[in-house]
Amino acid sequence: TLDMNQSDRNVRILLVGERGVGKTSMIYSLVFEEFYEQVPPKCEEITIPPEVTPVHIPTEIVDYSAQEQTEKELMEEMRKASVICIVYSVENEISIDKISSYWLPYIHQTLGEDHETPVILVGNKADLVDYSSIDSVLPLMNQYKEIEICVECSAKKLDNLSEIFYYAQKTVLYPVTPIYYPEERD
Ligand code: GTP
Ligand code: MG
Repeated sequence: TLDMNQSDRNVRILLVGERGVGKTSMIYSLVFEEFYEQVPPKCEEITIPPEVTPVHIPTEIVDYSAQEQTEKELMEEMRKASVICIVYSVENEISIDKISSYWLPYIHQTLGEDHETPVILVGNKADLVDYSSIDSVLPLMNQYKEIEICVECSAKKLDNLSEIFYYAQKTVLYPVTPIYYPEERD
């Protein structure tokens, strides 16, 4: 059951990631339950009313577009987010490399090394390959304790999208508190 304090909370899910990985398409496919070949660079902020979310908490979904937003705006959005999804494309190596060479360090720079905003790694365009990308991103979970989960989806096939937004809500509402980190023992 939910804590009383959570009754007036909301969940704000921010999608970041390299250009063209399908952030906007994911939001469109989730909302319209249909894949649009043409989407604008940035989707308007969406609020899902509590009664239609599995966790009954109002949920905001926020797109990011480097084309339309400044670094300052990105940093503000990162600070406002309750969970950050770093989206990559499973068939695009560069978008996978940038998770660790750019996005995770950028989140540390913006929110601090010890920030408490959960991060989800999302591999989109799973329809384009017949292998899983999870093995190549999983090691990052050892390096960055804020990564809660690694998942794949396809905006095109409408595959796993509602699940991903549900995971995102759950990581905010039911955070997993580790008992200890082995490397911190002396
Ligand atoms: P920026 O706004 O530039 O940051 O890109 P974005 O991350 O919002 O990507 P966008 O949604 O604009 O999608 C980029 C391209 O990938 C478009 O041509 C989409 O149709 C395509 N695309 C998005 N999702 C999928 C998917 O799941 N599968 C396939 N095959 N193509 C996809
Ligand atoms: Mg976009």
